[in-house]
Amino acid sequence: MFKRINDDARREVEISVDGQRVLAREGDTISAALLASGLDVRRATAVSGALRLPYCMMGVCFDCLVMIDGVGNRQGCLVPVSAGMKIEIQKGKREIGR
Ligand code: FES
Repeated sequence: MFKRINDDARREVEISVDGQRVLAREGDTISAALLASGLDVRRATAVSGALRLPYCMMGVCFDCLVMIDGVGNRQGCLVPVSAGMKIEIQKGKREIGR
């Protein structure tokens, strides 16, 4: 669906997405890295369970909510990747205290 612009100059960093190893590029946002990964990264909304993908990529729509290193309801489009991050695709409402 998405194709990267050829940009081999940026260093690759390894992140984990639902336990799977994913290579992202330094400077990617989490949402960009997820969309480029080829994985099914659709989240499910808390109320209806409708599936969503990052849409606006600028912090407006909240369709990119993920858990980052155990903290839920983070907007993936606003957070740059860093090596070793553990991302979980958010399914439904987040658990209290996470
Ligand atoms: S993609 Fe819209 S807020 Fe992140």
